[in-house]
This record gives sequence, structure tokens and C-alpha cells, in this order.
Amino acid sequence: MSVVGLGTWQLGADWGEVEESDALAVLEAALDAGVTFFDTADVYGDGRSEQLIGRFLREHADADVLVATKMGRRVDQDPALYTLENFRAWTDRSRANLGVDRLDLVQLHCPPTPVYSSDAVFDALDTLVEEDRIAAYGVSVETCDEALTAIARPGTASVQIILNPFRLKPLEQVLPAAAEAGVGVIARVPLASGLLSGKYTKDTVFAADDHRAFNRHGEAFDQGETFSGVDYATGVEAAVEFAGLAPEGATPAQTALRWILQQPGVSTVIPGARNPEQARANAAAADLAPLPEAALGAVRDLYDRRIREQVHHRW
Ligand SMILES: NC(=O)c1ccc[n+]([C@@H]2O[C@H](COP(=O)([O-])OP(=O)(O)OC[C@H]3O[C@@H](n4cnc5c(N)ncnc54)[C@H](OP(=O)(O)O)[C@@H]3O)[C@@H](O)[C@H]2O)c1
Repeated sequence: MSVVGLGTWQLGADWGEVEESDALAVLEAALDAGVTFFDTADVYGDGRSEQLIGRFLREHADADVLVATKMGRRVDQDPALYTLENFRAWTDRSRANLGVDRLDLVQLHCPPTPVYSSDAVFDALDTLVEEDRIAAYGVSVETCDEALTAIARPGTASVQIILNPFRLKPLEQVLPAAAEAGVGVIARVPLASGLLSGKYTKDTVFAADDHRAFNRHGEAFDQGETFSGVDYATGVEAAVEFAGLAPEGATPAQTALRWILQQPGVSTVIPGARNPEQARANAAAADLAPLPEAALGAVRDLYDRRIREQVHHRW
């Protein structure tokens, strides 16, 4: 699959209104630009994101796109609900939404921490593979510790984790452990919810139904998913400094994606795109030259000075 994929949370909900025609145009632009990996979830728009991808792929029968979905967040976050019976029901719904017999990749969607230590859960996931409902399974995690627990399971194909110039902890242990185990790494929230584009100011107003307005302190879901867990004012200032590291011909957003792709062990990065222009610009980051050592050192220094204290101990 392409090293730059597409995150499709935006096509479902929580980011303000996105029209169906705009959503399909984003998928079209990404595919045209060479993107062959879409990340979705059964809960994005309560199935809307999956359904739009399913419709898009039916209309593009020759497109060789790998679709990763996620399951587990349409019910209470209770480890007792992570059963084979529920997994069958959840994957049946995603198969219908996406219009496929076999799902390419299903990820547990940031489940409660005890789920990672349950042999029964991983046995049930193996059964889904045996039943040919899914080709492979992975996990989407909040913390590095959860990632390491999941990587130790022999059947885990992939780990999805927040990794960007404002979230460096996965570089310490998670990426090396995944590489060693042959587990794919899907880097999510790569632009720190758009902060790393450098386009927001302290006065920017987000729509009331955009999580960047309503989840800044983790009111609805894990705080780390919004602006990567960085306080907004701090993030805006740090983003100005980050923008100064962009090489000629690259935007700050593209520079952030290029930085992620340069980290050993990353399989793909999945920026979310609100419109076709963003999808195209993000795909083009794959063609940029690697950032020089000095820029890598400057990212580390920026993180240590401005960001580390807020996020490093939490996730
Ligand atoms: N728990 C989980 O498993 C989980 C959680 C979060 C995300 N994800 C996945 O990861 C994907 C990516 O994360 P994310 O979408 O939360 O955050 P992200 O990719 O860091 O940020 C997306 C936002 O960045 C801005 N943007 C995108 N491309 C841009 C460009 N070229 N130039 C300027 N601005 C640009 C847009 O903001 P504007 O809207 O302001 O234009 C867009 O909405 C999601 O779509 C989803 O598939 C999974």
C-alpha cells in the first residue's frame, strides 16, 4: 500500500458537516494521487464513512485499495463486550457497509486497556481470520504500553498510533519493537488535528460540532486525539516555529508528513483530508526529499522545549 494513506474520520462526523459529494471527491482525489490505503471505522458517522468508501470502491472496481476499518466503539467501553459473538456481528455490519465478503484489516478501536491482555480476545480475532471474514487484524492504541502489549501477540498485523512532530514517544520503543516483530505501523493524527499545518491562530473558531471545539480537554473521548493532546495555545505557537523548518517547495503540513515517513518502522501515514486539495497535497509529501539531519534535530529540540512536558508521560 502507499506510504501516504487517507484517514476518513472527516467523512463521517466530529469535524463539522461534510457533504456526500465533497467526501467522494476527497476519495477520488486521493486515489488519483496514488493513495491505495484508506483508514475508516464503523463508528465514523455511525457507518457513513464505511458506506461512502464502499460506494466509491464499487464505482471504481479496478482500484486496488486496501481498506482498514475499526470496531468496538459503538458499544459501552466494557471489556466483557469484546466477545467472538460481538466481533462477528460488528464485522458483519462493516462487511455490509463496505460491500465486501472479507475485510482487509480490522483494528480494535482503542479498547479498554485490559482487552490487550485477554487471550480470549486474541483467540476470537484469530477465529475471524480462520472464518475468512477478515484478512488480518490490528489494534489502534492510545498509549505506547498498549502498543507494546499488542505487538507481543503473534497474530497482530498492525498497530495504529499517534505519531507526529508533537508526539515523539513511539520512537523510543514502539517503532523498534514493531519493526523487530514485523508488525506494520500506521501513524495517525499526523498533523496534530491540523495544527502542524500552521494555519490556525489563537483566534481561530472551530464549528461547535467539530471535536477541536468540544474535546479539547477530553470531554467526549481521549484528549490525545484532539491536537495530539497539546494545549491549543501552546500548539499554535509551536506550529509557527515548526513552519520555519519547512524546506523550500514544501508546506509545513507536508513537512510533518515527510518527517513521519522518515522514522524507521513506519508503514504508512494517514492524514485526514477535508477537501481534494488537502488530499492531493498530502499524497505529494511522499515525493519530497528526506529532511536533513539538522531539521530532525530541530524537531527534537522543539518537542523537548515546548511539548514534551504536556504529553510524554501520558501516552
Ligand atoms: N482512535 C483512532 O483510531 C483514531 C483517532 C483519530 C484519528 N484516527 C484516524 O487517523 C486519521 C488522521 O487523523 P486526524 O484526521 O484526526 O488528524 P490529522 O490528520 O492530524 O489532521 C486532519 C486535519 O488537518 C488539516 N489538514 C489536512 N491536510 C492538510 C493540508 N494538506 N494542509 C493544511 N491542513 C490540512 C485539516 O484541518 P481543517 O479541517 O481545519 O482543514 C484536517 O481536518 C483520521 O482521519 C482517522 O482515520 C483514528
